[in-house]
Amino acid sequence: MRPTGPEMDGMMSVMLSAFDPAFGEAWNERQLASAMLIPGTRFAMIDAHGVIGPPSPSVPTAGFYLTRQVVDEEELLLIAVDPEYRRLGLASRLLEHLLANAPERGTARLFLEMRADNPAEHFYRRYGFEQVGLRRDYYRGADGRLRDAKTFARILDQVIELRSAQ
Ligand SMILES: CC(C)(COP(=O)(O)OP(=O)(O)OC[C@H]1O[C@@H](n2cnc3c(N)ncnc32)[C@H](O)[C@@H]1OP(=O)(O)O)[C@@H](O)C(=O)NCCC(=O)NCCS
Repeated sequence: MRPTGPEMDGMMSVMLSAFDPAFGEAWNERQLASAMLIPGTRFAMIDAHGVIGPPSPSVPTAGFYLTRQVVDEEELLLIAVDPEYRRLGLASRLLEHLLANAPERGTARLFLEMRADNPAEHFYRRYGFEQVGLRRDYYRGADGRLRDAKTFARILDQVIELRSAQ
């Protein structure tokens, strides 16, 4: 799924605003463009009005996700929302979009990996992801500090009740 120029620009602008540079987690444009060439990679973008689709020239891009599917497993490689538009339910809408058409494309399990102290864990747990792994000292931050990585999974044929925030 190859993005257009405006799509790349929109995703890069969210990437640069959303990820704290202390952790070195943002991808650069070359990494993003290369990832898009790998089969099974897909993305979706959301604008500041909560509309999912290609970027509009008049409404800023607020968030996006990027996944990669291999057979019946899909990895959520990135999900990010510009800090200006957080806690408005935009990442939830993106995740619901991802989950809504997962059965059609044959995804049975959705995985993700994140830095152990990332507050995004609350978001993932709320949407039914369970921790299935821990990799000690997996990430090295821009400050040189090593941090653990947690792997989460969600089995997609389960009906998940929305959990209250923890
Ligand atoms: C994680 C992230 C995508 C959430 O985006 P968002 O649009 O603010 O999320 P939503 O508004 O849909 O949040 C839904 C629920 O998730 C939980 N949640 C989201 N962010 C949270 C946070 N920082 N702390 C605690 N709970 C959080 C809450 O339960 C929230 O519901 P509430 O606002 O009613 O309490 C966003 O904070 C982000 O871009 N973070 C930086 C990038 C990143 O680390 N991505 C994940 C690894 S790739």
